[in-house]
Amino acid sequence: MQSSQELDLARLAPAYDSILQLVPYQTGKPVEELTREYGVSDVVKLASNENPIGCSPHVTLAITEQLTQLARYPDGNGYYLKQALSDFNNINIDCITLGNGSDDLLDILARSFVGCDDAIVYSQYAFVVYSMLAKIQGATGIEVPAQRFGHDLNAMRQAVLDNTNTKLVFIANPNNPTGTGLESEAIREFIASMPASVLVVLDEAYIEYSPETNNRTLLDEFDNLVIVRTFSKAYGLAGLRIGYALSSAPVADLLNRVRQPFNVSRIGLAAAAAALADQDFIAQTCKVNESQMRWLNKQFDALGLAFVKSHANFIMVEIEDAVAIHQALLEQGVIVRPLIGYGLPNWLRITVGLAEDNTRLIDTLRSILVND
Ligand SMILES: Cc1ncc(COP(=O)(O)O)c(C=O)c1O
Repeated sequence: MQSSQELDLARLAPAYDSILQLVPYQTGKPVEELTREYGVSDVVKLASNENPIGCSPHVTLAITEQLTQLARYPDGNGYYLKQALSDFNNINIDCITLGNGSDDLLDILARSFVGCDDAIVYSQYAFVVYSMLAKIQGATGIEVPAQRFGHDLNAMRQAVLDNTNTKLVFIANPNNPTGTGLESEAIREFIASMPASVLVVLDEAYIEYSPETNNRTLLDEFDNLVIVRTFSKAYGLAGLRIGYALSSAPVADLLNRVRQPFNVSRIGLAAAAAALADQDFIAQTCKVNESQMRWLNKQFDALGLAFVKSHANFIMVEIEDAVAIHQALLEQGVIVRPLIGYGLPNWLRITVGLAEDNTRLIDTLRSILVND
């Protein structure tokens, strides 16, 4: 029905102008879509940094046990999963917030702490959701130039000091899409130099692939640190949407007030607890990733392609005219991620797959480059 007055979205949405600048998040092309569009049936997806092995077999049983209970809401406090995360991370249960994927937690953080007059600081080439959140909140997004594709913490510190309205600093470690990593000591020094009025959000979506890095103990030192993790990557549960944040208890209290009451599903809670308990699966995942990453590095060297050393389960490779190469790969059933949206038109991000996936990628890429 037409209302008598015209709908004025610009007045309705407080951050209207800023939201209009938003480019919707580009997800990796689903396998089904590629099959439909190009008629290729044997598709290899190396575009969303998922775990190519799948997930722990214990997850299936945990999910099956929940199937008779689907009419019932989940435990809104996620008690059992939080208890397991508390034991695993050696942290009080009051310091944990659960999310519908870690994206949900990044969103809850922005909604809790950032208003129109505030600023969010993040690095050039950092995970794109940070700049999107600044736009959604109608806040100022301050993108600090990267240093060798990674975070320049000195420049980020200066940006915070120059912009006293900064509320959040996002640091992705390892970073997506560049795969760069930071030393724990550098992160510690950075947080120590932050005003208490600024929250540092350390996004550790890929931390399982850098087991030598341990920033958890920084939470004992700093009340203004939040660590965000996910079950989507090494744990292989991207389809279920589960993440968590570790923080000081007062910050967690606030985040838990802001989040939706049932933001993690019954199946998600059970699956995450089962996945967390199977650390052998994580060890196996890292082992496969490490050996396949080494193999891919050698192949890129042999093809004369430059790449950025990665601390995660994907790798950024320099290829002239990457958008066209991405398209040619798609047409042959191999999905990777072009990085033009990040201002990197000559780079592709490739998720490390199983040996057969990686062989298919390299063979296809070689044939495209030879025929170019
Ligand atoms: C750095 C980083 N943070 C957060 C996320 C969000 O992951 P999810 O919402 O699946 O937990 C991703 C996903 O690609 C990511 O790369």
